[in-house]
Amino acid sequence: MVTNRKVVLKSRPQGRPKESDFAIETEQLGEPPPGMVLIEVSHLSIDAFIRTTLGEGGHHGSVPLGSPCVALGVGKVIASAFEGLAVGDWVSGATLAQTHAMMPGAMYQKIDDTIAPPSAYLGVLGMTTGLTAYFGLLSAVNVDEGDTVVVSGAAGAVGSVACQLAKIHGARVIGIAGGRDKVRYLTDTIGADAGIDYKGEDVGTRLTELAPNGIDVYFDNVGGELLDLVLDRIASGARISICGAISQYDHLDDVRGPKLYLRLAERNARMCGFTVDHYANRFGEAIPRLAGWMKEGKLKLPEHVERGIERFPAALIKLFTGGHMGKLLVTP
Ligand SMILES: NC(=O)c1ccc[n+]([C@@H]2O[C@H](COP(=O)([O-])OP(=O)(O)OC[C@H]3O[C@@H](n4cnc5c(N)ncnc54)[C@H](OP(=O)(O)O)[C@@H]3O)[C@@H](O)[C@H]2O)c1
Repeated sequence: MVTNRKVVLKSRPQGRPKESDFAIETEQLGEPPPGMVLIEVSHLSIDAFIRTTLGEGGHHGSVPLGSPCVALGVGKVIASAFEGLAVGDWVSGATLAQTHAMMPGAMYQKIDDTIAPPSAYLGVLGMTTGLTAYFGLLSAVNVDEGDTVVVSGAAGAVGSVACQLAKIHGARVIGIAGGRDKVRYLTDTIGADAGIDYKGEDVGTRLTELAPNGIDVYFDNVGGELLDLVLDRIASGARISICGAISQYDHLDDVRGPKLYLRLAERNARMCGFTVDHYANRFGEAIPRLAGWMKEGKLKLPEHVERGIERFPAALIKLFTGGHMGKLLVTP
């Protein structure tokens, strides 16, 4: 028997989630029945899509009240009644927000911890981080050498990887993030050419200074007002990749769309959205490339780790208040 501690949804957040919207519950788990595995979760990925599942009618579904919150995680198999996985294997997949997951073994991917540490399979090699940046930047739009690329939410997980992939492909990169420390992180750790502090600087003025010939590619994690400020400064033939709109997730029933979309027509530009799972049949091509750049030291992603399953709600709130740089994880 092992004791599982899980984070359940107590009430649907109105606006920004509060810790009181969640509760920790405990249960005992025994031997897995046929086809199931028991996983000891080592890291949980704190992702923006989790917020969208706390309400009703979101793109990623809705968590019933009283049920565990959704989360992707990595962990070690500690008991198995599934042919494809043995005790000691490391796996990644939908573990939910809990210390131990008793789930069908077929739901998990075995991961190779000799290529990279298990947590990297939620970061640079993970679906909601490295793979999202890879396909959102290199497939949804194409980045060419010499492009001026702007990335919003640049000091977060997807943004940090997107900035570095753009640099690897010969672009000039301007990151937008909240606060001077994050701007320093962008230029000193991530290798961006410039950073803009959207909380302390006039973003429009700074974009005009830093991209006098216009913006060729915009990788947008934030949406809202920043999208209009960029649209107003795009170059002819610009490409905009809508990865997400974290500024809007606390009020999905009243999303602010771009006012300046006519710039797309005026400048022969295009704007497209994507979901990473659309590219699932190409993950096998992307992972070795991402791992290769990691090994060469061209791609890094610092981790911000919150310790203890009870920190899960606070960590989720942190994603929206900007208290981390790089990949936000919880070790349950
Ligand atoms: N299309 C897909 O398939 C896909 C897959 C995965 C993720 N995504 C999207 O990728 C984006 C980034 O996700 P992530 O997991 O990497 O999170 P993250 O960037 O690590 O964390 C989110 C960051 O967003 C910034 N932020 C929050 N509210 C903001 C606001 N109102 N205005 C401006 N910035 C704000 C915060 O940084 P500051 O301190 O700079 O404000 C925060 O650190 C999200 O929009 C997510 O939905 C899309």
